[in-house]
Amino acid sequence: MNINETLQSGFSHLPNFQNWADDKIKIEAILQTVATRLHNNYPYPHPMYAGQMLKPPHAIAQEAYLLAMHLNPNNHALDGGKESSAMEKEAVTGIAKMFGWDTHLGHLTSGGTMANLEALWVAGTLAEGKYVVASELAHYTHARISSVLKIPFRSIPCDTKGKMDLIALEAALQTGEIGTVVVTLGTTGMGTCDNLIGILALREKYDFRIHIDAAYGGYFTLAENLADETKQQFEAISQVDSIVIDPHKHGLQPYGCGCVLFQNPEIGRLYAHDSPYTYFTSDALHLGEISLECSRAGAAAVALWATMQLFPLEKKGLFAKRLDASLAATHVLYARILQEKRFLPLISPELDIVVWCPKGKSFSEISQLSKQLFQACEKQHLYLALFQFPAKLIDENLYPEWKNVEKDAEYIVCLRSCLMKPEHLDWVERIWAVMISCLD
Ligand SMILES: Cc1ncc(COP(=O)(O)O)c(C=O)c1O
Repeated sequence: MNINETLQSGFSHLPNFQNWADDKIKIEAILQTVATRLHNNYPYPHPMYAGQMLKPPHAIAQEAYLLAMHLNPNNHALDGGKESSAMEKEAVTGIAKMFGWDTHLGHLTSGGTMANLEALWVAGTLAEGKYVVASELAHYTHARISSVLKIPFRSIPCDTKGKMDLIALEAALQTGEIGTVVVTLGTTGMGTCDNLIGILALREKYDFRIHIDAAYGGYFTLAENLADETKQQFEAISQVDSIVIDPHKHGLQPYGCGCVLFQNPEIGRLYAHDSPYTYFTSDALHLGEISLECSRAGAAAVALWATMQLFPLEKKGLFAKRLDASLAATHVLYARILQEKRFLPLISPELDIVVWCPKGKSFSEISQLSKQLFQACEKQHLYLALFQFPAKLIDENLYPEWKNVEKDAEYIVCLRSCLMKPEHLDWVERIWAVMISCLD
């Protein structure tokens, strides 16, 4: 039996029925148009795509998703997805265990934004009227979600390593107005990781919740190839109140797969609501009882569960090795940038994101040159990204080349590359060669 036949055999006790007849020729023609129109997207799965945070879902995730689509389960309630809900609970437990939690409350979400919204909603409910703070390099979603939830929000400046400045954080904590500190492990722009250990030390003195936004960086908990200081932050994760991680970023999943976890299962009481429509088939936990979203894709849970069978979340395992390959590719690219006299470095990468720029006389000239190089690379089928680097974060002691550059802007547009695919390790020299050829 092939896989589809195995699926269908579970329903063979039902009388045969015929699907509404569709016009197969019309469908084929439309799909041809779709395939052609999609040429207009960037080639995300290819290693020469080294721009934004875009990583192809693994084949097992794609196939498991498609298989589940034959049923299209809805993991809101067990009525909508009994087995896919069980798979979601198992997969989420696996992620919680990766962070060192034996007990937890959590579930999948449609993405990192929704997962962070739930975490801040819980945080705001438990510390009513108090501020949420996050670093100036944290994802913009925290300020926006706080405004949606009417929670007061404050941004904390960063140091020249792109981490939340703990002196500024302590000054804010001394006001007694801070309820929650969002710690980013893997900022969107540069992959920098806040000093969680320092923030945990502050929690000894002040009373606040810690929420980790590890939407991007969470899986690097398993990586070996990190600097010691970065590794220590990930090792301390189990001591926090809530964590967000996106399987649709580094977890090999198609979009529509974020995850929120709470250390204390008792916060489940905050979600209490009555549904007059669902929750009748079983007294067991329906995931809609502990989630703000109602309908959620059961197929996303099936895909994640299947992927985690092939790639268990363990240190030194195959999945961890793939992340280490991305980190190794990043180290190669960054070493090349440091050696190339026509480039200026900005910040040493902590994860697999590199930012840098061409040399110029002023910040504004550098921004112009970055944009030109970005376009020239695209013409050679090398796809990079751009990022607005806050100029005040430049460390002139570490990078003295910056001392003579005219400071005529607050931000410098620089090049950015997320080397998220393990294949990037085999391709990084080629990527470099194309980039250098575009400088000439
Ligand atoms: C650190 C961080 N948090 C939150 C988000 C938002 O996640 P999503 O795009 O899945 O909604 C992102 C997205 O890039 C991110 O990098």
